[in-house]
Amino acid sequence: MTAATLEIHLTDDDLTAALRSDVRQGLTASPKWLPPKWFYDARGSELFEQITELPEYYPTRTERALLESVVGEIAAVAQAEVLVELGAGSAAKTRLLLDALTTGGPLKTYVPQDVSVSALRASADEVAAEFPGLAVHGVVSDFTATLDNLPRGGRRMIAFLGGTIGNLVPAERAQFLSGVHDVLEPGERLLLGAGLVIDPAILVPAYDDAAGVTAEFNRNVLHVLNSRLAANFAPEKFAHVALWDEENEWIEMRLEATEAMSVTIADLDLTVDFAAGERLRTEISAKFRPAGLEKELAAAGFGTERVWTDPRDRFALVLAERR
Ligand code: AVJ
Repeated sequence: MTAATLEIHLTDDDLTAALRSDVRQGLTASPKWLPPKWFYDARGSELFEQITELPEYYPTRTERALLESVVGEIAAVAQAEVLVELGAGSAAKTRLLLDALTTGGPLKTYVPQDVSVSALRASADEVAAEFPGLAVHGVVSDFTATLDNLPRGGRRMIAFLGGTIGNLVPAERAQFLSGVHDVLEPGERLLLGAGLVIDPAILVPAYDDAAGVTAEFNRNVLHVLNSRLAANFAPEKFAHVALWDEENEWIEMRLEATEAMSVTIADLDLTVDFAAGERLRTEISAKFRPAGLEKELAAAGFGTERVWTDPRDRFALVLAERR
């Protein structure tokens, strides 16, 4: 059996430089904001795993059930020889795809991509052990910047699941989809998982659960700044807020200062003042309509081949062909 190989295009120093620049930019802006990718240190990834098990958080289980029911069709249509999975992380859904693409199609290579070396090494090795006939080649990179490093050769399908596309604002999405388009050859495919616009009464609790796990996840970004940039945030002095933005059709997560305070980010020589009640935007999680997805894909040069939705129309899987 051959072990998984790992290619590293993003070092810890690169990550620190990106974090420093994001934090300086976001915390000196008005209103203040931080990009959601900084939630995911070891504790944040663990908290996200807990979120996926919450009764209120429907996306993960809905996407998994949908994928289970249509993965055979995906394999038959895509005939992929190479599967590239962006943001592979813990990769529970990957098994479903790999099973179908190896038994119902010509898959030979699996390329999981993630920003976390540790998460990727563990999951790539597991997959290599479980699928002895498959070449597993992990890529540590930032998917928004490093699509160029994905291997060529063999008909490819890029999978971007979990609804993470929703963390990008429309302009970032357009740029990301064009980037994916540009690395693919005509006829190759993108498999996209996206949350749909549904009743806010179901949507909001998914981001504001009764057990408070999402609140802890949200505040975790402050712990990350404390430990990685020697900041002195008091995370318990920030309240978790999740609201549905009707106009933009996205969930916005905020941390709201419960009192006026001054925070020092020592590694940046930066002091940031918060007024009582001031908000810090930590995430948007956009929800989509199938027609809107098709339109965004078309604008980036993709033709939508199939859209599958779950029986309650909460989540969509889209198979799109690069034109
Ligand atoms: C992993 C980005 C898809 O937006 O639903 C979960 C992250 N944030 N609860 C999402 C998240 C709050 C999640 N994604």
